[in-house]
Amino acid sequence: MKKSRTNAPDWSGSVPVLPKAGPRRLALYRELRRLIEGGSLPPGAKLPTTRDLAARFGLSRGAAVAAYEMLVADGFAEARVGAGTYVAAAVPTRAAPQPPVLRNSREEPGPLPGALGCSAADARTIQVFRTLLNRHLMQPSPRHFHYAEPAGSLELREEVAAYLRAARGVNCSAEQVVLTSGTQQALDLVIRTVLKPGDPVWVEDPCYPMARVALAAAGMRITGVPVDAEGIDPEAGIARSPHARAVYVSPSHQFPLGVTLSMRRRLALIDWAVRNDAFIIEDDYDSEYRFAGPPLSSMQGIDAQGRVIYVGTFSKVLMPGLRIGYLVLPPTLCAALLDVRARTDRFPSTLAEGALAEFLREGHFAAHVKRARRRVRQARDSLVAALEGSGLEVTRPEQGLHLVAGLPDGVRDLDISAAAARQGFAVRALSPMYVDATPRQGLVIGFSGFAPEVLARAARAFLSTYKS
Ligand SMILES: Cc1ncc(COP(=O)(O)O)c(C=O)c1O
Repeated sequence: MKKSRTNAPDWSGSVPVLPKAGPRRLALYRELRRLIEGGSLPPGAKLPTTRDLAARFGLSRGAAVAAYEMLVADGFAEARVGAGTYVAAAVPTRAAPQPPVLRNSREEPGPLPGALGCSAADARTIQVFRTLLNRHLMQPSPRHFHYAEPAGSLELREEVAAYLRAARGVNCSAEQVVLTSGTQQALDLVIRTVLKPGDPVWVEDPCYPMARVALAAAGMRITGVPVDAEGIDPEAGIARSPHARAVYVSPSHQFPLGVTLSMRRRLALIDWAVRNDAFIIEDDYDSEYRFAGPPLSSMQGIDAQGRVIYVGTFSKVLMPGLRIGYLVLPPTLCAALLDVRARTDRFPSTLAEGALAEFLREGHFAAHVKRARRRVRQARDSLVAALEGSGLEVTRPEQGLHLVAGLPDGVRDLDISAAAARQGFAVRALSPMYVDATPRQGLVIGFSGFAPEVLARAARAFLSTYKS
């Protein structure tokens, strides 16, 4: 039998003071965890009974029990039947410095360097997420065993609303937020709710291919509206399709070209939508990755007439495999869209939502974004440096996870992307992303999810054959 130490912690001199705000069980859990991690409660130490703990901290017994259960779930304590609760013999320690980029554990072939849409999550983020998921599995909420709200959990919707108000100037309450399985489902729900087959819709030209695919599959009549240095041009849209019912835009960082929609055009687009009773679908997919200067805040935040439907995702900022995104709806659309949601996939995964809500609430998200932004900026710089002098026209992007490299006249991007893949470098051809406009030939290259040296090596290997 394992020998255990029985030295109960001596808090007689100073009972730690719990912060006033927030749930008591969480505050107690954090305080105990701090004492364990700091060594004041050593491995194997017997913890006070829940009755004693509750009395010392002036809490309910239930809060003390819950705090112990969380410590056990997270591996910081062990419950021994009939003997009480002990600090775990092997307390989880903070991750040692890790390689910046995650590898999948089974060495399955991953995407080639340069591929779009790769997660910038690091080992620290995954470790925290694992702990939070584990906590939810060890203390399953009754919520997981029933059918839940079609909008998604209120706790995560509240976190998302607070984040969007602060970070993106979105004007919303949790009641307007609907959790989705990413942007793609958000688009599908919006299309089913506000459009009908045959409706005319504008998209940016060139356009995010998956938005175009969703609209086309639902039978919309799509018009490509040209994008210049100021973003989509509403005048051109009005000239081509004056009675469109909706427009899909990525105003903060146009996909794929990377321009920002000017304030003048934002206001013109909202004016047009108000006059035409049309909706603006604002895809704000990567605004967390802003490397210089503050981003323009969301279009939703300057829309006083309920014309903007805001779409966001955790795919870029955390990882696509999470499949969590969100919609912020004008209040008038909420009931209809939730009807569609209930009818199509009922409600989102309560398990993943719960872990993500705590990830945000406990401050892990903000710390993750800071780390991820720093890593992605380094990767961007490394890629831009490797492409310098290559004859490709490259501008260093100040936001996002990809860049567009222009090709010299007479060179076809589809040919180049096929050749690059053979060299182990993933570049997407720009020209197929155009809708009605004459396509520009270019390469769309991602820089998230790859170590700077891996990207640079792959880019150089590709360039050595591209130039010859
Ligand atoms: C323009 C744009 N919007 C949204 C997304 C994210 O899609 P989802 O949330 O469905 O993973 C991407 C990912 O590639 C994108 O490029």
